[in-house]
Amino acid sequence: MFGIRVLIGAFPLVLAGYAAPVAAEVSGRDLVEALNGIFGQHAGQRASHAKGICAAGEFRATEQAPELSRAELFGAEPALVRVRFSMGGGNPVVPDTARAVRGLAARFSLPDGGVTDLIMLSAPVFLARNPEQVFEFLRVREVDPATGLPDPEKVAAFSAANPETTRQAAWLAANPPADSYLSTRFFGVNAFRFINDGDEAVYGRWQIEPADGVVELDEAQLAELGDDFLSEDLVRRLAAGPSAFEVYVQLAGEGDDVTDPTVSWPESRPRVHVGTLNLTSEEGQSCDTLMFNPLALPAGIEPSEDATLRVVRTTAYVESLARRLQRQ
Ligand code: HEM
Repeated sequence: MFGIRVLIGAFPLVLAGYAAPVAAEVSGRDLVEALNGIFGQHAGQRASHAKGICAAGEFRATEQAPELSRAELFGAEPALVRVRFSMGGGNPVVPDTARAVRGLAARFSLPDGGVTDLIMLSAPVFLARNPEQVFEFLRVREVDPATGLPDPEKVAAFSAANPETTRQAAWLAANPPADSYLSTRFFGVNAFRFINDGDEAVYGRWQIEPADGVVELDEAQLAELGDDFLSEDLVRRLAAGPSAFEVYVQLAGEGDDVTDPTVSWPESRPRVHVGTLNLTSEEGQSCDTLMFNPLALPAGIEPSEDATLRVVRTTAYVESLARRLQRQ
């Protein structure tokens, strides 16, 4: 069932003072095991982005969206949407005040009966450039049962040898978190190919921005907030009225890397405003048993060659789903 495996070796691991395990290949199961090695296994919970809350609403495409792609999502009919906001990492009780990356996963139910999933982060870059590097990133952070902590020397040596794996943490340290999931900007760090009716294809990355703007918290404000402030805020705000996000596709420019999610593209790249996501209700834990699939795409949107988007990522999600359904 999880027989799809990706050969390791494309990425040279030269680690001063740290003998990297010489893995021959990495699978979805390996990746979930590595996540569990850091965060533990928690019955019924996702191996990553374990803490989350769901919401629902509607997506309406703009008139120019079909110029970018013939996807059903960009048609005239609105799509119903289920969204799960989450905190990065596999700790289901992580405080919302943690400087962790936040996640947004959305499932669009299309008028033709199909679905499209969109998975995004509150940082413009991912923590590794391919699944093998994700695996090594996780393995060096495996918690030592004696100390309850990872070995700082292993982590430092890995970071020094793989500097691109420090970019996401650096971005999160430099950019304060927003005061609400509904005031957070989200980035689809993977590139996709958008193909229109004329068979013109361009590479782009999704971006979602709160219609009322990003509201950042300073350290003093963050220190005052409770462990579940994000979910409490979502419940409160959506009870008071709908909340909108504008949805864009940032277009790749000359020389932009469409395969490496650790590299952000210049802010100056043009964006196409493709629609508005209007959230109308908070839905508690109702999407806990859903699995969002980065490859659930309509005709007119295709995955790029980014290896963190292709097969092994979805097999990791399926492995995590199987484990959380078995251990309720
Ligand atoms: C090879 C790379 C990756 C691995 C191994 C991985 C692993 C996982 C796993 C195991 C889950 C839990 C899935 C479930 O139980 O439904 C998850 C969830 C998630 N991942 Fe990844 N991931 C990877 C790359 C990414 C990337 C590139 C992004 C950003 C676009 C991302 C964003 C998320 C988000 C937002 C969730 C939460 C989805 C939800 O709310 O259900 N991941 N990831």
